[in-house]
Amino acid sequence: MAHQYKAADVLDTTIMGPETTMHGLFDYLREHDPVAWVEHPDYRPFWSLSMYDDIKSIGSQNDKFLNAPRTVLLAAEGEDMLEAQFGTRNGLETLIHMDKPKHLKMRRVTRDWFLPRSVAKLDAEVQALCKEYVDRMQDMGGECDFVKEITLLYPLRIIMSILGLPRQSEETMLKLTQEIFGPQDPDLQRTDASNEDAMGTLVELSQYFTEIVADRKKNPTDDLATILANATIDGEPMDELDQMSYFIITATAGHDTTSAVLGAGMKALLDQPEQMALWRERPDLDDGASKELMRWVSPVRHMLRTATEDFELRGKHIRAGDALALWFPAANRDPRAFDNPNTLDITRDPKKHLAFGYGSHMCLGMHLAVMEVARFYRELLPRLKHVELAGEPKWIQANFVGGLKSLPIKYELT
Ligand code: HEM
Repeated sequence: MAHQYKAADVLDTTIMGPETTMHGLFDYLREHDPVAWVEHPDYRPFWSLSMYDDIKSIGSQNDKFLNAPRTVLLAAEGEDMLEAQFGTRNGLETLIHMDKPKHLKMRRVTRDWFLPRSVAKLDAEVQALCKEYVDRMQDMGGECDFVKEITLLYPLRIIMSILGLPRQSEETMLKLTQEIFGPQDPDLQRTDASNEDAMGTLVELSQYFTEIVADRKKNPTDDLATILANATIDGEPMDELDQMSYFIITATAGHDTTSAVLGAGMKALLDQPEQMALWRERPDLDDGASKELMRWVSPVRHMLRTATEDFELRGKHIRAGDALALWFPAANRDPRAFDNPNTLDITRDPKKHLAFGYGSHMCLGMHLAVMEVARFYRELLPRLKHVELAGEPKWIQANFVGGLKSLPIKYELT
């Protein structure tokens, strides 16, 4: 008998971790309860949206559906603790936690750094790094954990380089990012996991960036850290919490997500080897294939919006103040939006995918992410004579940023 899902399963990370059960749940919700009211003893209630049109429509109405005060799903106890400590239910005040007019002013500070023309300037450096990491795979002698040893490290190096932060800090940054984004996964938590640990991670990151700010104020250079350290908003230095949060979102938002697409993308190519063969032969498909992997993996599982007025959606009455969870992987496999959504097809036109969200909060780093994934596979695939799974892939147990935490592979590289 088919698995019986229920709307509250979006909070069950053993279901939301692995791709098969996550998509089983979303297929069920899209058909039976696309606008579902979710109640759970540990969480404040919210609406769960799983249809492409609804998610795109709510995402695009940034005046009516706000990012504050609830931005991602956190247990009520955690939200209360963060509010008591930092004055916000998120503990941070980053771009994803803000609304107009502040959001636009803040986004403008770094916007130019992530436009296609700026990203194009990084191309040579990105290609050199791809070669370095594929060479590293070759030096490993034909066997590695593709996630732990390769994909977790390469996108991290790129964002650290844009920020102007040294290689020695990468290990700390990786650990802290995983603790922020994967707090529900027992393998990625601090050893003595509890709510206070999430705060401990934030405090540790803030201390690290406070030193960087002091340094870049004294010794400005041409890196993004210098821009953030010296930024002004309405003629005043940026507020301290905003500044810390800005460092934290730029240093963390981009690499876990891109790693997830590279890692789960390899699993998809192993599962559908004719797509791998096609991509190897067709460099002209690089950009489209990279975007199709974004659609396929959709590592950011959800964002929340809060309604500012009452409205009806598919016969459900949503009230002002209600939170709505936008499940991006569900939108990206909606058969009303994509033909054969459960088939990876690197020749499709995947431009309308929602892996980067939609509206004025649409991912700042999307052009960079697409380039990173395209360039990596362009280096890897022509050199990869053979590749196979060498163990069980393991999924992160999380419903915010998901993906694989381990993908053992065997391969032959030239
Ligand atoms: C595969 C890689 C990536 C995925 C899937 C992804 C996905 C997302 C999503 C879904 C959002 C929220 C959009 C919304 O609420 O409508 C977002 C926002 C954001 N992303 Fe990405 N992202 C990726 C890579 C990156 C990279 C490389 C950076 C580089 C710094 C980055 C920086 C940001 C920032 C700063 C925001 C907040 C934007 C705002 O609220 O104005 N992301 N991303």
